[in-house]
Amino acid sequence: MERPAVRSATYVAAPNIALVKYWGMRDPELGLPFNPSLSVTLDRLRSRTTVRFDGELARDEVELNGAPATEDQRRAVVVFLDRVRAAVGLPLRASVRSDNNFPTASGLASSASGFAALAGAASAAAGLHLSPRALSQLARFGSGSACRSIFGGYVEWRAGRRTDGSDCYARPLYPPDHWPELVDVVALVDDAPVKKVRSAVAMQATVRTSPEYPRRLAAIPGRIAGIRQAIGRRDPTKLFPLVMEECDSFRRICETTDPPLDYLTGASHEVLAEVRELNRAAGRPVAAYTHDAGAHVHIFTLRRHAAAVRRRVAAVPGVRSTLLVRPGPGTRPILRIRAGRPGARRARTR
Ligand code: DP6
Repeated sequence: MERPAVRSATYVAAPNIALVKYWGMRDPELGLPFNPSLSVTLDRLRSRTTVRFDGELARDEVELNGAPATEDQRRAVVVFLDRVRAAVGLPLRASVRSDNNFPTASGLASSASGFAALAGAASAAAGLHLSPRALSQLARFGSGSACRSIFGGYVEWRAGRRTDGSDCYARPLYPPDHWPELVDVVALVDDAPVKKVRSAVAMQATVRTSPEYPRRLAAIPGRIAGIRQAIGRRDPTKLFPLVMEECDSFRRICETTDPPLDYLTGASHEVLAEVRELNRAAGRPVAAYTHDAGAHVHIFTLRRHAAAVRRRVAAVPGVRSTLLVRPGPGTRPILRIRAGRPGARRARTR
């Protein structure tokens, strides 16, 4: 009797930090956002995910960081795999193994890198040959911000207008090495709370209840254009104030959500204050803070200020450590095995 086919692929993907945040969906079913967003894909941090479709499996098996996934996590992966299977008419169950080289669900955007890597691995293992744009549209179904992690460097997620989502996708703006001077000092704080509510759910509460939300939406196109231009011109004096303005706007709509959303710890607030003080003392913007729906703070600065920024931020009580990261590459395969039949495998490494 012929043994069932096995097809597998392994992809790596990195988290991204949004300089202009995605927060709010015009269509939750399709994951279509109200506003465009802009992010930097980071080096050093990565999720590595292997998907193996296997005819001998009775159910999808999901392992995260060496342990079986919780039922909620497994369900999210199964729903995602179902979408991929439906696209190619694949009847096989899969085993999914994913690990992060950084803490999961800590505000370092593990859902973005996790689902970007899953989109790459699942589609490749299923034999779907997707363009990077189509891959970004697929990744969005796992986690909105994952669509941006498909690309390296500076990335824009176009919100689009169409109801079918065909004009909603991520695209690269500038490559990782566009601005070698720009670095991100990540301040990792102690006792960062693990997110209880997924951002995808929390953001819809903001849409429904924050009186500030419409004003924020109106300000975003101008802010995106300004940030894009500042990055294009490698202009920190223009970029840093805009990044902080955007982060403050994000925090304000979280605080005015009913019930309020509070992602920061006391130490995170102290770090924001340190950055404001640093700029005040310098008499010009030398650094910019930003944070996502988590307690860790990213501080963008120039390489020549990085040591001083790190020293200063590391001295804040409640800051566990700092990490220096730079713009990095997008989602990519590390090993792909294509097999129609066992024994007929072709391995390709990159
Ligand atoms: C604040 O699309 O990552 O990071 O997968 O539910 O966590 P979940 O949602 P996700 O939301 C991202 C929100 C944000 C801003 C951003 O990355 O643009």
